[in-house]
This record gives sequence, C-alpha cells and structure tokens, in this order.
Amino acid sequence: MATNTGLPSFTIRAITPAETHNLRHRVLWPHKPMSYVQLDEDDQGHHFGVFLEDAAPLLPPNLQHLEQPQVDSSAMPTEPVSVISMFFAEDANQKKEARFRKFATEPQWQGRGVGSALLRYAIVFAVTEGAEAVWCDARTSALGFYQRFGLDAEGEEFLKGDVPYFKMSRTLP
Ligand SMILES: CC(C)(COP(=O)(O)OP(=O)(O)OC[C@H]1O[C@@H](n2cnc3c(N)ncnc32)[C@H](O)[C@@H]1OP(=O)(O)O)[C@@H](O)C(=O)NCCC(=O)NCCS
Repeated sequence: MATNTGLPSFTIRAITPAETHNLRHRVLWPHKPMSYVQLDEDDQGHHFGVFLEDAAPLLPPNLQHLEQPQVDSSAMPTEPVSVISMFFAEDANQKKEARFRKFATEPQWQGRGVGSALLRYAIVFAVTEGAEAVWCDARTSALGFYQRFGLDAEGEEFLKGDVPYFKMSRTLP
C-alpha cells in the first residue's frame, strides 16, 4: 500500500548487472557513453534493486490527489527504481571488505527512503557474508547521507571527471 509520503510498498532483490545499467547511466553519468557504467568486474559483483509493487503511487506526488486510473498490472514497470552493487575483496591484512558502487535512485523516487532501505540491505548482506568493513567512493553531495549509516570520510577530496568525491568507510557490524 502507498504511505502518506507517496511511497508504495517495494521489494528488494538480487538483480543482474544488466538490470543496473540504465539507472546507473541515467542518474550517475548521463553524459558518458553507456559503456562507462558497465564495469569489467560486474560479473564478480552482487547487485540489488528496489522494485515498486503498487501501480497507483507511480503517479507523481503532485498528481496523487487525483482519482487513480484503473491500471493494467501488466503495465507495471519492471525496472528497479534504485540499484546498488557490492564487491568483496581482501584488505592488506587479509580481512574481507565490501565495497559498494554505482548506487543510484530514480530521481522521481529520491528522498522517499528507498535508497536508505537498499543501503541497509546491502550492509546487512555484507555482514552476513563475513565482511569486516564496508567502503565506497562517495560523491561529496552524498556525504551526509552516508554519515547517517556510520561511514566516515577519510583522506582528501578527489575528482572523478568534474565530480568531487571522498573515500568513506566503516567497520562492521
Ligand atoms: C544518494 C541516493 C542513491 C540516495 O537514494 P534515495 O532513495 O534518495 O535515499 P533516501 O530517500 O533514503 O534518502 C535521501 C534523503 O532523503 C531523506 N528522506 C528519506 N526518506 C524521506 C521521507 N520519507 N521524507 C523526506 N525525506 C526523506 C533522507 O533523510 C536523505 O536525506 P539527505 O539527502 O539529507 O541525506 C540518491 O539520492 C541518488 O541517486 N543520488 C544521485 C546519485 C548519487 O549521488 N549517488 C551516490 C553516489 S556515491
């Protein structure tokens, strides 16, 4: 059911790398070729997506007061509205660490909590897989978001293209 924030119920599930590419491209690097968001290491990663379940709340928030049209359930979007990818590796001390990458929420659904739910899910997955730390290259614009998940920035700010980033990490659990 929809909530009063306009957020419908959703499920989170594992997806293929190919299912992440459209959203990665559209949200993170729209001015780069699609190949820029298709990582060589995607096949070694774990990918998760958020899928909406209610058709009605797909109306933009400013139209949700209108009477809902009858919706053909076969017309429900099959694309995820938020995606994240996770890669495991060992650090210099042979401790397992999880890196998450290419985290993106469909602009229409940003700020409604789906990204938080997805990141929480990914961190729990990392813990259950035995990771002792989690890290990412975080866009500086998302620093406050990640700090709420206990990640701390380390080192100097750096650029990818013209986008500023910090490395952020936290120990687990
Ligand atoms: C970063 C990103 C993935 C987070 O996904 P999201 O779905 O927007 O995440 P949430 O909705 O859970 O949280 C985003 C913000 O909305 C707020 N929020 C969450 N639920 C809310 C609600 N019901 N009402 C109002 N605000 C809410 C959160 O507190 C958070 O605030 P902040 O921006 O001050 O940190 C998404 O915003 C995005 O794709 N941004 C552009 C690309 C990007 O920067 N990706 C990260 C690269 S490192």
